[in-house]
Amino acid sequence: MGIQITPSILNADLAALGAEVSRIGSADWVHVDVMDNHFVPNLTLGLPVVESLARHTAIPLDAHLMIEDPDRWAPAYAEAGCGSVTFHAEAAKAPVRLAREIRAQGARASMALKPATPVEPYEALLPELDMLLVMTVEPGFGGQKFLDLCLPKIRAARALMRKHGVETWLQVDGGVSLETIERCAEAGADVFVAGSAVYSADDPDAMVRELRAKAETAAASA
Ligand code: DX5
Ligand code: ZN
Repeated sequence: MGIQITPSILNADLAALGAEVSRIGSADWVHVDVMDNHFVPNLTLGLPVVESLARHTAIPLDAHLMIEDPDRWAPAYAEAGCGSVTFHAEAAKAPVRLAREIRAQGARASMALKPATPVEPYEALLPELDMLLVMTVEPGFGGQKFLDLCLPKIRAARALMRKHGVETWLQVDGGVSLETIERCAEAGADVFVAGSAVYSADDPDAMVRELRAKAETAAASA
């Protein structure tokens, strides 16, 4: 797989989700941020909205669960039709079992790390994951400033994946824009979430294409 762009609908018009998703036809995935007001200090949407959105778009859904107790809730998002389900390492009690359950439901299993969570303790888990998400802001809100301090972790994660010979995708989420995407691609990320950058653009789909072009050029020269 090459570079993939996954716009986050967090900053879209949430009262018109079906229409908002039809404005990003070039996207590889639609990133859906699920927040429970416990794991993060914000509350967004849950399973009923995700089920409904899955019926409104042919673009696969990439669910990012910023919730407590993902061991209990995450498999239901796979069952609801999400193509990828991401739980947080800081919240999961049994990440290996959970990743296997998500895969058993037919979805890609992914695990996220907050900015202060190192990747090294999870090295042995990489073969169990289809994607690792390195957060580049503290999770909870769109429109935050990109944290450059996360770049070494992206490089470290990519190096561990090479060491293990796994094809795990490496996603970044938070503050990704035309200004920051090249740094992430050079460090080894290949899946890019962009929320405000896409939905504050006059033409969100053109922004998806611009982001992709920048990341492709940066990855090729890395
Ligand atoms: C933040 C969410 C992100 C957010 C990204 O906790 O996980 O997906 O929507 O928004 P931007 O791209 O504006 O940082
Ligand atoms: Zn997210």
